[in-house]
Amino acid sequence: MSVTVLVGSQWGDEGKGKIIDVLTREVDVVVRYQGGSNAGHTVEIGAQRYVLHLIPSGILHEGKQCVIGNGVVVDPVALLKEIDELTERGMPTEGRLHISDRAHIVFPYHKALDESRERLRAKDSKIGTTKRGIGPTYGDKAARTGLRMADLLDPHFGTLLDERLVEKNRILTALGAEPVDASEVQRAYAQAGERLAPYITDTVSLLNRAVNDGKSVLFEGAQGTMLDIDFGTFPYVTSSNATAGGACTGTGIAPHRIDRVIGVVKAYTTRVGEGPFPTELADETGALLGREGREFGATTGRPRRCGWFDAVVARFSAMLNGIDEWAITKLDVLDSLETIRICTAYECGGKRCETIPANIRTLEQCTPVYEDFEGWQCSTKEVSRFEDLPPRARAYVDRLCELTGVPVGILSVGPRRDSTLRVRAEA
Ligand code: GDP
Ligand code: IMO
Ligand code: MG
Repeated sequence: MSVTVLVGSQWGDEGKGKIIDVLTREVDVVVRYQGGSNAGHTVEIGAQRYVLHLIPSGILHEGKQCVIGNGVVVDPVALLKEIDELTERGMPTEGRLHISDRAHIVFPYHKALDESRERLRAKDSKIGTTKRGIGPTYGDKAARTGLRMADLLDPHFGTLLDERLVEKNRILTALGAEPVDASEVQRAYAQAGERLAPYITDTVSLLNRAVNDGKSVLFEGAQGTMLDIDFGTFPYVTSSNATAGGACTGTGIAPHRIDRVIGVVKAYTTRVGEGPFPTELADETGALLGREGREFGATTGRPRRCGWFDAVVARFSAMLNGIDEWAITKLDVLDSLETIRICTAYECGGKRCETIPANIRTLEQCTPVYEDFEGWQCSTKEVSRFEDLPPRARAYVDRLCELTGVPVGILSVGPRRDSTLRVRAEA
């Protein structure tokens, strides 16, 4: 029985989906609390590969309840596609998936605006968004003009949507983009509303009841700490709070109910899209990490930028999220390397810097200070106990924990469920 938050501790794609899948066995409810279909969470079960965008990864376990919280922005058409795909693959969602009636809705004009704004940004200030309409939808939420899932079921939905369509099409035209087809949007969303009605509910009460009844609840963070709207590398971030605090505002569960926070980190670092990345490797080693780690975006297919593990980022993330333990993933990707580096601090303007500067231009000028390790140069892919890791791999993991002040609880050496080592904390 516990309430656990699992957060991405770098720039996303840390392997959250895989770890959620492993932990779901032990819980009753899995909840997404922020983001939208910009997320791509991969789970490999035997020869089957699933990529989940909006539905919590826990859905792949029969009998588990899954919730899309109020903090998520929901594209109903994308969600229905995901529901249909899961049903076709023998994983029906009825009765197990619950969508908050307070979650904001993504409309086609949000996606068109996302695309237009990216197009209009100067070449060196593009964010490289996933074009899933995330920024404009959260923008409408903050501007108090968004529509929520409860509105989708309201008899006045058509009128409410019409008002927005008129305004947004004016903006799109002014930006030189094609307006959206208002009657087609009305038709598609009315239909989606009918199909989603059985799923839309008061998830705040549902979740609080589950916690009060002693059920175990697992919060599935999307994106990562460095993409958080407040704490990430602004403006090269997403538009929600990916950090642990988002689990409260994004679900209606009070802070003191949370027992534990797990931070997921890759044994190296990746980033998709634009923005500073101090430990990025633009050389053959970076290419090797990309190849060995199959680093292509699960949502957009874009190649991910790769670099060394950044302990400054991980320490910052541990502090912000109150991380109790790491789930370290993709250690196996480092298997063949002769030398492995960890960034322990930055150097900026002749000064040593131990944390992330708020000024993006300062961060862009930071250069990493590295500590070098001899690689273990043998396969860790088949290792099933922490004690059986090659000594140099253990030393690398131990140093990573020492530098970040957080112990390792889970270690992953492959994409599949059985490539997961549970590490007992030394008392
Ligand atoms: P998420 O967004 O955090 O859920 O991560 P993604 O699914 O976008 O990307 C992680 C990728 O790494 C997926 O393709 C996973 O199947 C894969 N993966 C997860 N853990 C491991 C691991 O320990 N080793 C290897 N080689 N791959 C892993
Ligand atoms: P998961 O949950 C990695 C990145 C985009 C872009 C920035 C803003 O799979 O870890 P957005 O579409 O959100 O406005 O894009 O954030 N981004 C992600 N990068 N993993 C993700 O999700 C991401 N979701 C958004 O590439 O740089
Ligand atoms: Mg991903």
